[in-house]
Amino acid sequence: MCGIVGAVLTQGSVLEGLIEGLRVLEYRGYDSAGVALGLEGGVAIRRRAGRIEKLEAALGESPPADSQIGIGHTRWATHGPPTDANAHPHTDGGERLALVHNGIIENHGELRAELEAEGVAFKSDTDTEALAHLLGRELDNGAPTLAEAMRRALSRVHGYYAVAAMRFGEQRELVCARQGPPICVGVTPEGAFLGSDVLALIPHTREIVFLDDGDVCELAPGHLRVTRLDGTEVERASQHVSWEEADAGKGVYPHYMLKEIHEQPDVLARTAFSRIDEERGDVLLGHEELGDGGWSDALLRDVSRVQVAACGTALHAGYIARYLIEGLARVPVDADYASEFRYRDPVLMPDTLALAISQSGETADTLAAQRLAREKGCTPAAICNVAGSTLVRESDAVVLTNAGPEIGVASTKAFVAQVIAAYLLAVRMGRARGVIDQARGLELVRDLRLLRPSLERLLSEEHVSEIQAVAARHVEAKGFLFLGRGINYPVALEGALKLKEISYMHAEGYPAGEMKHGPIALIEPGMSTVVVNSRGGVADKVRSNVEQVRARGGQVICVGSDPESLDLADEAIVVPESSEWLSPVLNVIPLQLLSYEIARLRGCDIDKPRNLAKSVTVE
Ligand code: AGP
Repeated sequence: MCGIVGAVLTQGSVLEGLIEGLRVLEYRGYDSAGVALGLEGGVAIRRRAGRIEKLEAALGESPPADSQIGIGHTRWATHGPPTDANAHPHTDGGERLALVHNGIIENHGELRAELEAEGVAFKSDTDTEALAHLLGRELDNGAPTLAEAMRRALSRVHGYYAVAAMRFGEQRELVCARQGPPICVGVTPEGAFLGSDVLALIPHTREIVFLDDGDVCELAPGHLRVTRLDGTEVERASQHVSWEEADAGKGVYPHYMLKEIHEQPDVLARTAFSRIDEERGDVLLGHEELGDGGWSDALLRDVSRVQVAACGTALHAGYIARYLIEGLARVPVDADYASEFRYRDPVLMPDTLALAISQSGETADTLAAQRLAREKGCTPAAICNVAGSTLVRESDAVVLTNAGPEIGVASTKAFVAQVIAAYLLAVRMGRARGVIDQARGLELVRDLRLLRPSLERLLSEEHVSEIQAVAARHVEAKGFLFLGRGINYPVALEGALKLKEISYMHAEGYPAGEMKHGPIALIEPGMSTVVVNSRGGVADKVRSNVEQVRARGGQVICVGSDPESLDLADEAIVVPESSEWLSPVLNVIPLQLLSYEIARLRGCDIDKPRNLAKSVTVE
């Protein structure tokens, strides 16, 4: 996944805005970066392997002239290693056009061979450069505009792309197109702007157009025109985006991840409190940007089962959703990896709600799983954090989480928001089906309100320093096991994922009841085991798991509200009591902080872990 920006202005210089946009999008990919600036006599291109600082140094060494049109790119390499030559933008070899691309051109080999046979000399190993040369060839073959050349060139391309191209010199044009990875655009009287997500545009405009797959967009100050690949013009309404620019900054925190961990009490309030209807002992699933969210009583009553599909952290929230919806609304739920679901030709029952869960709403596997479910007759629904995302636009019913932009690659506040949204959905579904009466509904919604002070306590300086001490004692562990049962089993999975993705230590999440079926063989001194256990139906079973691990010399860190387990463990991280249904929201906080502190001690790049991207928009 890469970050793309572009702009054309009536006056002034685009460069600063492009660099700022790339900084905001750097979380999307960061192994190389580059900009192209259109000049009267041609183009100035600066691109470097490495972080944006390297690009800025290159710009400082040889500052380009002011330009009113430019594109920029921050890359997560798919074809060709991250080198200066493979960094975007790429040109057609002439001094006419430059192009940046996010995605994969699956038939790039065939196109490259065809172009080389015509004498084209490639300068990079990338699939992207083939598209740049295709554009140049279409201009040579008489395409009257860059937009027309784009439509003709893309009709030869198979794969996924978010692409932006600019033409410079006497015929300045800025064009973008989308098939898969997102692109959004916005115009003001002073300029026109494009970017991979809204964060790059909100400094310029809040009226944002989210392009659809198959759209080609021409941009000029105060004007945009959208066509399909066949040239048909289409209207795309703009949406007002209310995210604050400040939301996208780190504020006083050293890392986005830490800021986002500490935002979670506010995320709870923003996602849940405005939806609580205490009078009726119920909740509202709608949202200011989406109306009622499509959740009619009829839909919720007629659903016979729920099929969850998601990836990574979002799937862990999906596993928790299974406990919540089955436990509270008594509706059967399956949950599967989207990447598995989409290829196993699943057998789906009629009246199934296909619930996709995704922070970005752009994850390729999750989108494909949702489209398959719709083809098989399911009602597509979503829990998602981005109102204008593809997933939201392709779903009939949506619960929007209000976590605000999540920049840290390791998902934290979005996970908590997804769990809260699943709880709201379970309550609403139970109320619509008469399984939860008004009195019980009131209890359930009030339990949400009780979470906030507990979250605040778990994020207090005192608690954080306690976690720092635990982290220091385990930073050299040879590995970690995370164990939990029931609704806290997915919390164990999430704790393991957090640790491995930002500290690069081996960590495995397991249902505690599975220990004796294999993993207990791993227990030995130096192996750290984190056991998540809250008061509730399985607490006593988890206690015996703690004893099993300790009996074999394993170090146990217990996280939760079960006093006996905390007493049994070598180290105890106390979590305030709560409704068992909501205990994952609290139990995950110490695990997020533990992974953050261990990664910090290990000197890892917490916001941009190696090999990872924030949203996996291609397979
Ligand atoms: C979580 O920390 C990871 N960054 C990753 O597993 C992520 O949850 C997954 O890629 C799904 O992303 P999405 O929620 O945007 O669909």
